[in-house]
Amino acid sequence: MRIDILTIFPEMFEGPFSHSIIKRAVEKGKAEIHLHNIRDYSTDKHRRVDDYQYGGGAGMVMMAEPVVNCIEALQNERDYDEIIYMAPDGELFDQPMANQLSTHQNLILLCGHYKGIDERIRQHFITREISIGNYVLSGGELAAAVITDSLIRLLPGVLNDETSALSDSYQDNLLSPPAYTRPAEFRGMKVPDILLSGHEARIKEWRHDEAVKRTKERRPGLFDNINE
Ligand code: ADE
Repeated sequence: MRIDILTIFPEMFEGPFSHSIIKRAVEKGKAEIHLHNIRDYSTDKHRRVDDYQYGGGAGMVMMAEPVVNCIEALQNERDYDEIIYMAPDGELFDQPMANQLSTHQNLILLCGHYKGIDERIRQHFITREISIGNYVLSGGELAAAVITDSLIRLLPGVLNDETSALSDSYQDNLLSPPAYTRPAEFRGMKVPDILLSGHEARIKEWRHDEAVKRTKERRPGLFDNINE
């Protein structure tokens, strides 16, 4: 999978992408992440990418030209499955959407700023708009990093144990059960006996029951989904 991220702050991605699973996935050639500075596509001598809103009002809007120049330069090189705009008013991102997007070859993620982007980009170039939650971020970069992380970990061969993405919370509409590691007793708090029993079938059943209990308590809506 190849992900092209269009941003005015490429440095914001250095942290999230240079550690752990994403870093290893890129090193192993399972994923390619390309960062593009939208300013490089501005024809303005000051490399401006934003301008005042028509009709007045506070806040700048990202101009169509640099963004479209960047999108078209990429489209000249390859076909894209989706051109996604990170937007607080987009479709709400969730695990089924991550699963679906992770099957694609080439994605563009466009990060907006200021009061948003010129509506003509949204109408004529963007194929999908995604929000990572009902709150407003200062820009689309953190959202793009979240989406990139959630897609890359699903790619075959990225996680060491192929089953571990499948047993993630949300994959079967169930949250994960509690997990413990050594020591078996910490400040008087004990690991449940069943987990020390070595009895695989019973441990599996216990984990399932705990996952159901947790889901009913914390995400009743998710639980209702499986029982519809
Ligand atoms: N840009 C600003 N807020 C956002 C959000 N909640 N999701 C995606 N992109 C955004």
